Amino acid sequence: MSVRTGAAVEELSAVDLTNPRTFEERDLRPYWRTLRDEHPLFWHDPRGDNPGFWVVSRYADMLTVFRDNKRFTSEQGNVLVTLLAGFDSAAGRMLAVTDGPRHKDLRNLLLKSFSPRALRRVEERVIQNTRRLVAQAVRRGEADFAVDVAERIPINTIGDLLGVPPSDQDFLLRLNKQALSSNDEGQSDEDAWLARNEILLYFNDLVAERRAKPQEDVISVLANSELNGEPLTEDDIVLNCYSLILGGDETSRLSMIEAVRAFTQHPDQWGRLRNREVELDTAVEEVLRWSTPAMHFGRTALADVELHDRTISAGEIVTLWMTSANRDDRVFDDPYTFDLGRVQNKQLAFGYGPHFCLGAFLGRLEIRAMLDTLRTFSSGFEINGEVRPIHSNFLSGLGSLPIRFTPDEAGLAAAADV
Ligand code: HEM
Repeated sequence: MSVRTGAAVEELSAVDLTNPRTFEERDLRPYWRTLRDEHPLFWHDPRGDNPGFWVVSRYADMLTVFRDNKRFTSEQGNVLVTLLAGFDSAAGRMLAVTDGPRHKDLRNLLLKSFSPRALRRVEERVIQNTRRLVAQAVRRGEADFAVDVAERIPINTIGDLLGVPPSDQDFLLRLNKQALSSNDEGQSDEDAWLARNEILLYFNDLVAERRAKPQEDVISVLANSELNGEPLTEDDIVLNCYSLILGGDETSRLSMIEAVRAFTQHPDQWGRLRNREVELDTAVEEVLRWSTPAMHFGRTALADVELHDRTISAGEIVTLWMTSANRDDRVFDDPYTFDLGRVQNKQLAFGYGPHFCLGAFLGRLEIRAMLDTLRTFSSGFEINGEVRPIHSNFLSGLGSLPIRFTPDEAGLAAAADV
């Protein structure tokens, strides 16, 4: 597969989207802008043993591919690491990498536990947990916001929902961080693989326990449900727990951390939030657009598809970069401005179409609780140490964000419950 010749294309081709370092070392804004304007369907050359793949950068094209699960499948992987390998061993069993009627049935089953109505009962717990952690950090005056605050909230929430005992949640958090991205560049692919296996083994045991003695949690629901008259197998349940614990933890956490960094860089926006000049729900959408923690997802073409006068051939990989679509000026006014009051904001951080994020309501709820708590307990904050990015070609954000808080004494004093 060749690309048009010319210096610009050569320069664009030098950017290796498979390498996590690309996202730490480069300012990719000009790259994405050029792709959106001049090469909306761009061929990323093969690297080493990895095949080449298409890069989709415009918002409208992303909707087209996301919604079309007839001509684009998730069953050969949905992120670069599996797409490049050419398969996902959980295909047809784990929701995110299952298509067709089975996807619909499994999604309907899981939605029972993740619908807004079902989640009302966890909302209060999320708010209490967030208030406790933020109050502790603000009273101390200094904290690594990533490690001491944001890290604790999603893992506790999804852990409680699944039925993971609180005493095991730290252990899973550590494995999660190794499985998808890493705070440590020295970590090998084998370490990530081992971490993923440990998570699976952990859930194997828990599923067996819940089959024998059901409780009020998602694992028990799955362990005692049927799909087309057949109970889910233990493997099916374990794989979906795995995907929920990974999906439910890291993305929301990275969005909250990025929000705090953005406030330190845009004090005017922090002022708008604190002075209640913007709606909380509107602010949450902008935090999601701005942070876009999952940079890409992807599909494999099942048929030849024409797009922008080029042909995506059946069997080729198509990657969808929400990190670019969420800055597309065809859709967003002034997309490089962090504007908490942005109302035209159909951001794509949760994807779109049949695989639209199952945890979107939960993710929004967690970020909302964080923004509300921060503005109640702190009047401001600044970065007071080294900020460290995570190491990933899939997720974007910070593994460490040392913060010095200015307390809001009145807000803290009024919070007798924390
Ligand atoms: C799917 C992002 C929070 C569980 C997705 C997709 C995106 C996404 C982009 C689409 C994947 C695709 O099209 O291939 C995010 C972001 C979050 C978040 C940005 C937080 C800020 C959560 C939470 C959960 C979760 C809290 C846990 C319940 C899932 C699952 C899917 C999914 C199970 C697969 C849905 C399907 O295939 O039908 N997420 N997610 N996510 N997410 Fe999330």
